[in-house]
Amino acid sequence: MANNGLKLSFFFLFIISYEYWVNHVNIVDTNSADLVKDVFILAGQSNMAGRGGVIDGYWDGVIPPEIRTRPGKILRLGGDLSWEDAAEPLHSDIDANKTCGVGPGMAFANAILRGDPRRFAVVGLVPCAIGGSGIEEWSRGGRLYDGLMRRAGVAVEGGGGKIRAVLWFQGERDTVNRSDAESYKEKLQRLFMDLRADLNSPLLPVIQVALASGEGAYVEMVREAQHGIELPNVITVDAKGLELQPDGLHLSTRAQLRVGEMLAHAILQSNCSL
Ligand SMILES: *[C@@H]1O[C@H](CO)[C@@H](O)[C@H](O)[C@H]1NC(C)=O
Ligand SMILES: *[C@@H]1O[C@H](CO)[C@@H](O)[C@H](O)[C@H]1NC(C)=O
Repeated sequence: MANNGLKLSFFFLFIISYEYWVNHVNIVDTNSADLVKDVFILAGQSNMAGRGGVIDGYWDGVIPPEIRTRPGKILRLGGDLSWEDAAEPLHSDIDANKTCGVGPGMAFANAILRGDPRRFAVVGLVPCAIGGSGIEEWSRGGRLYDGLMRRAGVAVEGGGGKIRAVLWFQGERDTVNRSDAESYKEKLQRLFMDLRADLNSPLLPVIQVALASGEGAYVEMVREAQHGIELPNVITVDAKGLELQPDGLHLSTRAQLRVGEMLAHAILQSNCSL
């Protein structure tokens, strides 16, 4: 009897230690440096950079559980080109002239880890979006394009990462001027082709977000252009109808969580060669 009691005590001691180990010792973290990161490039303008929770230039600091930090599992390439644990606002030192809030990036990363934990070990997010940027500014050879290429290069340096997709949310600026809206489709298609060529990945998946809003009157024209892209492995998710901040231009935190989930769903469902 005493012997059984002892066995039982050891058994519980084992369970308690095991529980502690699982919950408190970060197993992945110890060798995450050696794991090849699944890299996602985040590019576009303010709604990719994130303005969720920003009102009159102040961010409310609200971080819902869906976008929590996952140490060692979700990393971010900072403005200083080094990896660190990712947290919103992901673009604070990238779109540094603006007040950044919540974007879709952390919701996306959390959702793909939840959706397919075997496929994705360590997610490496590479924020590159700049508020107010028009499609012309993203053309090959320009400052924003070159900045993206430089950051993408660092992200895969030494075989430490593989670029899995570009996540693109842009076009609000191109709704102001009719000729910008009219030429949007051609410029967007050109951009996607240039990125694929220069990243040496001809079928790299591009997940783009169709506009929920715009700075001008030609929102529908740009949306049509986005939905009309005729390239393989370009998937369009649609932000139309999602909740906007009082400025009528930027998505709220809740809406950004939804965009992140839609982007993740597109990746998880895709037959793209990831
Ligand atoms: C911030 O503004 C300065 C001055 O206009 C400019 O030189 C710099 O490129 C801007 N930075 C970003 C990230 O847009
Ligand atoms: C619209 O954009 C085009 C090309 O970017 C430019 O040439 C033209 O002056 C702009 N028109 C207006 C009204 O701003």
